Amino acid sequence: MSETLEIETPILAGKPSPFPVPAGCYTLTVQEVQHYTDSLFRFRVTRPMQFRFRSGEFVMIGLPNAEKPVFRAYSVASPSWDEELEFFSIKVHDGPLTEHLQKIQPGDTVLMRKKATGTLVNDALLPGKRVWMFSTGTGIAPFASLIRDPETYEKFDQVILTHGCRTVPELKYGEDLVASLRDDPLVGDLVRDKLIHYTTVTREDFVRKGRLTDLIVSGKLFDDLGLPRMGPEEDRAMICGSMAMLKDTKELCLSHGLEEGANNKPAQFVVERAFVD
Ligand code: A2P
Repeated sequence: MSETLEIETPILAGKPSPFPVPAGCYTLTVQEVQHYTDSLFRFRVTRPMQFRFRSGEFVMIGLPNAEKPVFRAYSVASPSWDEELEFFSIKVHDGPLTEHLQKIQPGDTVLMRKKATGTLVNDALLPGKRVWMFSTGTGIAPFASLIRDPETYEKFDQVILTHGCRTVPELKYGEDLVASLRDDPLVGDLVRDKLIHYTTVTREDFVRKGRLTDLIVSGKLFDDLGLPRMGPEEDRAMICGSMAMLKDTKELCLSHGLEEGANNKPAQFVVERAFVD
């Protein structure tokens, strides 16, 4: 990491921004932007040396485009050891933040409040045999962080990343990431031994179809993977998606006998909401 990555004058659309940087914010420089669909993109920014977080946590992100910029919660998609920070975002037409955020280019400034927080962390789960990561849409972001962290594989023998989307192109971020990890010098061996990636699509043809919740209820998810139904002895779960998905998946975890945990009271599953408007 370079000595200092905070900059004096934020850059917006390639030009100096006329607005002051709000107190308590880092100014991060965009390094890379990749668009997947007309509603999904990822971006990478510089990471300040002082910034610490646990894999799976989220931060508040904004742009230097107003006196009082709009901030939204974003899970950090990169692991805690990475020299840059990565985020995976939706693009919402007329969304107060994402309407502008989707236009960022390398060299532009992104604002980030200094504190990271969240419950989708390994510390909030009791040890177990396997961890189920249930995600829909951009809810895969915290798990993109956790599956790159060796600690996840130290804690669990099997790591099952499930990702449900409306269409096949929306799966690409997760597919590319998992493929790249198989050759990763740090976690490649662990990923090949322990990570299972299970994708499903609801609104077009694909090898696996249906909502994750329906696949849990029918048991197809477990049968497809040759694993037993979830239970409190062996299984742990983390959930990230829309409000409705969180609620339904949480109820399913409870009905399978798992108890909800938190940072100060680790248990068998944890829930987080990570969507922006
Ligand atoms: P569906 O197409 O049946 O709505 P969204 O973009 O709306 O967050 O949806 C992302 C994925 O999550 C879609 O495949 C969607 O299925 C699915 N989904 C939406 N609501 C739920 C829910 N309550 N439980 C599980 N999956 C859901």
